[in-house]
Amino acid sequence: MNKQNLKTYKIVTFGCQMNARDSEKLSGVLESKGYVEGTDEDSSDIVVFNTCTVRENANSRLYGRVGYLKKSCQINKHKIIGICGCMMQEADEIKTIREKYPYVKLIFGTHNIGEFSKLLDEVIEKNEKVIKVYSDASDIDEEDKMPSKRVYDFKCGVNIMYGCNNFCSYCIVPYVRGRERSRNAENIINEIKNDVNNGVVEVMLLGQNVNSYCGKQSVNSDEIINFPTLLSKVCEIDNLQRVRFMTSHPKDFSLHLIEVIKEYDNCCRHIHLPLQSGSDKILSLMNRHYDRKHYLNIIDKIKNEIDDVSITTDIIVGFPGETEEDFNDTIDILKKISFDSVFTFEYSKRQGTKAATMQNQIDQSVVKDRFKRLLQVVEECSNKNTDKYVGRVFDVLVESKDKEHGKMTGRLKNNYLVHFCGDESMIGKIINIKLIKSYGFYFEGEIWK
Ligand code: 5AD
Ligand code: SF4
Repeated sequence: MNKQNLKTYKIVTFGCQMNARDSEKLSGVLESKGYVEGTDEDSSDIVVFNTCTVRENANSRLYGRVGYLKKSCQINKHKIIGICGCMMQEADEIKTIREKYPYVKLIFGTHNIGEFSKLLDEVIEKNEKVIKVYSDASDIDEEDKMPSKRVYDFKCGVNIMYGCNNFCSYCIVPYVRGRERSRNAENIINEIKNDVNNGVVEVMLLGQNVNSYCGKQSVNSDEIINFPTLLSKVCEIDNLQRVRFMTSHPKDFSLHLIEVIKEYDNCCRHIHLPLQSGSDKILSLMNRHYDRKHYLNIIDKIKNEIDDVSITTDIIVGFPGETEEDFNDTIDILKKISFDSVFTFEYSKRQGTKAATMQNQIDQSVVKDRFKRLLQVVEECSNKNTDKYVGRVFDVLVESKDKEHGKMTGRLKNNYLVHFCGDESMIGKIINIKLIKSYGFYFEGEIWK
């Protein structure tokens, strides 16, 4: 294949923040090889799909997009389509791609993203299909060393750990991302210091379950540090104005963590704490290792201790064996807690997980009906939390200019968005904004001098 014919690339990302971070690394590798970002998948010479497999609909969406590119592959014989990420850790999916989408030239998995550059060279030089997926985790240092092209200049995600050990019975992640591996603290801190020197003001510490972080202090030390200690070290980095983290697991959420959040002004007041269900029976079947009492207890502590904190959650409806009574337990706890935002999911059966083998899978019509009722409650419960912020002044990180209404969009420390009149020179800066009106999920505000 002639390298000269390849000029532009496009990365298409599905799924979570971890995938978004991985895509920055894929872009970084391609830019370091001299390719430039193209306008769309159709016209770009190299297209890489970074996939998610957490729910079935993510898989269908991928196949729709890959199928659509068949025509442009026929027109542009040099075009390279690559697929990587969680879905590629499943043998059945690779088989489907081989059979139905033969024009896909490169496939690799979550454990060998560090080999992307080498594998792409192989496709180009040998002009043949390359499929390389490992079932076990590789050395994480390799991917940490990858170049990366950030989406924003002023904020970025930083992986602190990879994989998950929890095996929630519905979840495919432990199978496709492997066992938990924590990076050592010194490497994390040095990476962030470097980012800050390059203009970053906000970092998001990323992991499937950040609360179970247990990394070594440094390469040469056997001392292990936990998540709250790591968080405090990150918050102490000079000129780092904001620190976020995602995702927390209720079973590991400690009082020490609440203390650290309170102690550091630059630690953001937003906690994403997936509840999944309000029924103790379902929580136990889900293998979540906490009950509603424990969850309510943590929420109380967080709300009592941290001013202006926002708490968001994930809820799954239609898990196998969920009765109307179990569903009502979920509705009840949602009404009690009044979350700032709730991400709602219909249960999706993932082959290979324990829940997929459970009896009493719920009928789709029941799942859909419960999902509809859940959304109604979520809508009724929102709005309630935000009125208390109106009339007050907050520091806001300006992120973008909204194309639709021309106003600037900024983010409060508790993750709420605010729109206000301003100009693009403010992007990446933290400024004071007075909140004037609440629209539930966002505010209207004005610059406060
Ligand atoms: N079905 C539906 N939702 C799921 N999630 C994870 N696995 C599944 C599944 N099989 C949801 C959980 C998790 C979020 C990232 O995705 O709520 O917190
Ligand atoms: Fe999946 Fe549970 Fe691990 Fe989250 S904690 S990634 S839901 S297994």
